[in-house]
Amino acid sequence: MGAYEIKSLEQYFKVYKKSVREPRKFWSKIAEDFVWYKKWDKVLEHRLEDAEVKWFVNGKLNITKNCIDRHLAKRGDKTAIIFEPNDPKEEAQHISYNELYVRVCKMANVLRDQGVKKGDRVCIYLPMIPELAVAVLACARIGAIHSVVFAGFSSTALSTRVRDCGSKVLITSDGGFRGNKTIDLKSIVDEALEDCPEMESVLVVKRTGAGIDMKKGRDIWLQPLLEEASGESIAEVMDAEDPLFILYTSGSTGRPKGMLHTTAGYMIYTAYTFKNVFQYEEKDVFWCTADIGWVTGHSYILYGPLANGATTVMFEGVPSYPDFGRFWEVVDKHKVTQFYTAPTAIRALAKESTDWVTRYDLSSLKVLGSVGEPINEEAWHWYNDHVGNKKCPVVDTWWQTETGGLMISPVAFATPTKPTYATLPLPGVQPVLMDEKRNEIENNQVVGSLCIKFPWPGMARTIWGDHRRYKETYFSAFPGKYFSGDGALRDEVGYYRITGRVDDVVIVSGHNLGTAPIEDAINEHPAVAESAIVGFPHEVKGNALCGYIMLKETGETRNRENLTREINQHISEHIGPIAKLDKIQFVNGLPKTRSGKIMRRILRKIASGDTSNLGDTSTLLNPEVVSEIIDSAV
Ligand code: WTA
Repeated sequence: MGAYEIKSLEQYFKVYKKSVREPRKFWSKIAEDFVWYKKWDKVLEHRLEDAEVKWFVNGKLNITKNCIDRHLAKRGDKTAIIFEPNDPKEEAQHISYNELYVRVCKMANVLRDQGVKKGDRVCIYLPMIPELAVAVLACARIGAIHSVVFAGFSSTALSTRVRDCGSKVLITSDGGFRGNKTIDLKSIVDEALEDCPEMESVLVVKRTGAGIDMKKGRDIWLQPLLEEASGESIAEVMDAEDPLFILYTSGSTGRPKGMLHTTAGYMIYTAYTFKNVFQYEEKDVFWCTADIGWVTGHSYILYGPLANGATTVMFEGVPSYPDFGRFWEVVDKHKVTQFYTAPTAIRALAKESTDWVTRYDLSSLKVLGSVGEPINEEAWHWYNDHVGNKKCPVVDTWWQTETGGLMISPVAFATPTKPTYATLPLPGVQPVLMDEKRNEIENNQVVGSLCIKFPWPGMARTIWGDHRRYKETYFSAFPGKYFSGDGALRDEVGYYRITGRVDDVVIVSGHNLGTAPIEDAINEHPAVAESAIVGFPHEVKGNALCGYIMLKETGETRNRENLTREINQHISEHIGPIAKLDKIQFVNGLPKTRSGKIMRRILRKIASGDTSNLGDTSTLLNPEVVSEIIDSAV
C-alpha cells in the first residue's frame, strides 16, 4: 500500500485537496495496490439523492485474496492474528498467515459442504475466539454474506436478525468466557431459533466444554468437520459491488437496520484508513479492543489490518479481569504498538489506581486510538499521560457502522491533536455542517448537523431488504447529502468536535441503542401502559438510560422494586443486558405535544438534573405532568 501515504500535515493538506479535486483518480490510484481478477471499468457512479452509489464498477476480486493469499509469498510465517484468551493462564495463540490461509480454506469448504453458496447469508454468533475471524473470512472467500451478531445480544435480538436477513446457517459455540463468567451461548441460540423455522444447520464450536443440547438434524460440531476438510479452497470471483456483509445497527425507530457493505470499496477504504491514521508499519502489532460483533472489530481487527498484512490482536476478555491491569499486561506481553479502544473503557480504568498502568512496560506503544463516543477531556488526558506517556498521539476517530471506516480523525504524527476533537476529515471525506434551515454553514466556529456531501468507497450501500428506509434515514433530511445523525462543532481552524447524536439514539458505553426498541420491550410488560427512555450523562458509560414509565393501573399495588427488576429483566431478554436502565421513574403521565409525540427534550433535561431551563413547554398538551415528574424525580 503505497499510494497517497501521509507523513506530515503539509502532505495531508496536499493529499486531501487532491482527493476532493479528483476523487476518481485519487481512489483508483489506491485501488491499484490491490489484487484484482479484473480491473474496474469506471471508478464511481452515484446519485446520492436516491442513495445510489457504486464504486469500481465491474471490477472483480475476492477480499480474502487481498487479506490472506497475497501475503503468503512474503509474509507466510508472519503472525496474522494473536489470540489472547480471557484467562491469562491459557496460552496465547499466534496464527501465521499460512495457518490462517489453511483454516479459512477449511472453514470455506465446510460451509460449501453445508450447501452455502454465493449470496447466501450466514449468521455468526460467537465469542471473541479465532473461529470467529476464520468464519467471517471463510464467508468472504465463498461469497456468502456474513452477518455477525454480537454475542452479548439476547435470544430475541438474535432471532430478529436471523429472520431479517434470512440466514439458513448459523455458527456458534457451546459457550464463551468473559471475565469470571461463562456465557451459555448455545441455549440462547436454541431459544432464538424457536422463532426461526428456516434455519437448516447450526455449526457449533467447542470452547467451554459445557454440556449442551445438540438438536438432531440441525446441530453439528464444527471441529471434526474442519479436521476432515481440505486446506485449499478456490476463492469466489466477486463483483466490486457484491455484498460482503450485513451488520445491524440501532435505529431511532423500529427494527434494527441491517447495514449492507459491499466488497471493493469497503476493502480499499478500511485498508487505506488503517494504514494512514495509525501509521502502520510492517513490524507493528495492532490491538483494537472492540468485539468483532461491532463494526470497529470488522474494519480494524480484521479487514483493515489483514489487507495490510499486519499482525492484529484478538482479545477474548474484559479490561477488568483478572484485574484492572489486564489491558496493560497484554500490551506489554505482545509488545503492542498501536492500541485502539473506547472512551468508556478508558474512563473505567482511569478510576482505578495508576499503579495498574505503571506496573507494565508500555514503551512499545506508538499510537493510541479512541472510538465509539465523544471522549471527554479528563479521559483524553489520562490516556495521553498515563498510557501514552505523552509520547503517543491520541487519534480520536469519528465514524459509524454506516461509514464502514474512519471518517474524521487525526493522522498520527501528522495532524496536531486537540483533546475532544476528532480534528480533520480524512482524504476523500467531505463533511459539511447544516443549519436548521437545511443550509450548508460555510463559516468556522459553528455547530450544525454533520453531513457528508460526496460518496466515499467505504459507505454502506443500503439497508438489507429496505432501500427505501436507507434513503429516508440517511439521504432525506438533507437531500443529496448523507446525514450522520450526529451534531458537530467546527472550530476556528476547521477542526471538528462531535457533540453527540441529534436523534433518538443513545450511546451507552460506546454501544448505539435506539430508544424505540427499548420502549417497545418495556411496553410489552403487562403492567406497563407507556414509557419513554432518554439518555443522561454518566461518569463511566458516557451516557446511561433513564426510563419514565406509566403503569396501567394507577392503583398498581405491586412493589416498585420488584417491578423495576422485572422491567430490566425484560429488557435483558429482549435486547441484551447493555440496554438495562440505570434509573426508572414511575410517572402518572408523559409530557406530550398536541400531536401526541412525547417531548423527550424535556425528559432528557430532567434526567440529567438540569431543570433550570426547560425551554418552551407551551406546546405541551399536559404541562402539569412536568412539575409532577420533577417533584418526584429520583
Ligand atoms: C458515535 C462506531 C464522538 C457517534 C464506529 C456515531 C463518536 C456513533 C466517535 C456510531 C468519536 C463514534 N467521537 N462520537 N470519535 N466515534 N461516535 O455505528 O455518535 O457503533 O454516530 O460505530 O458513535 O456508532 P457505531
